Amino acid sequence: MDKPGALAETAAGAIRLPRLPALQAQKDTMLLQHATWPDVEAYLKQANGIIVPIGSTEQHGPNGMIGTDALCADGLARGLGEAVGAMVAPVINVGMAQHHMAFPGSMTLRPSTLIAVVRDTVASLARHGFSRFYFLNGHGGNVATLTAAFSEIYGETSLQTGQQPTVRCRLKNWWVNPNVGRIARETFGSREGSHATPSEISLTWFLHPEAARPMDLPQVLPADGGFTDAADFRRRYPDGRMGSDPSLATIDHGRRLYEAAITDLAEDWKRFLAEG
Ligand code: NI
Repeated sequence: MDKPGALAETAAGAIRLPRLPALQAQKDTMLLQHATWPDVEAYLKQANGIIVPIGSTEQHGPNGMIGTDALCADGLARGLGEAVGAMVAPVINVGMAQHHMAFPGSMTLRPSTLIAVVRDTVASLARHGFSRFYFLNGHGGNVATLTAAFSEIYGETSLQTGQQPTVRCRLKNWWVNPNVGRIARETFGSREGSHATPSEISLTWFLHPEAARPMDLPQVLPADGGFTDAADFRRRYPDGRMGSDPSLATIDHGRRLYEAAITDLAEDWKRFLAEG
């Protein structure tokens, strides 16, 4: 991404821009929010992909942060962007979490709202020339809605015969990766569970060690699957965990999961771009 002189080519009309350091594939400068518009213009001359972290703001059991899913997605997106030299969009912090609403602090977007947010996010960035959207997801509850949003986006092109640039969207759940899965199985076994997992709690503590809150917790039975609304969820899972044991979480496990995830995601990013 180091392209000296790129900014000199980006002067718009009669405006002469002062010479600034070119965009670097380094921490921070690949964040859309830390970039300038000439940075983005220069990036788009050589790339068309962007990582869009998406999470949730919802209860994560007695000792997990409410921002867990957004923090995981955002932290991994920053690491991935740095590893592969890709731009990273602002995290979509609130997801589809209606079933967590009986726990204080949880927030949700209705599926229809989240679809609108995803559509407008893609449309905004596509307007500038981005065409490969890598949604790095931290929340299982977003999957159905994200998939529907992608169909809405593709449907707009499919229902027209015009010559529109082809947008491609990938949904990638960070925990569904070969090395991440192996570490989670070997380290936590069946106590990983499916919500407020020791994996995701460990990862947030690695990313934000100042917020780590180790806690002994009674074991809970494996989650038996279904739930409907928020009251039903809380009745089935009174402390918010779903068959998980976050008392196993540590910053060191989080470091191992982070490194494994970045390795896995970098491979997947390359496959995504190669798909054309
Ligand atoms: Ni989570």
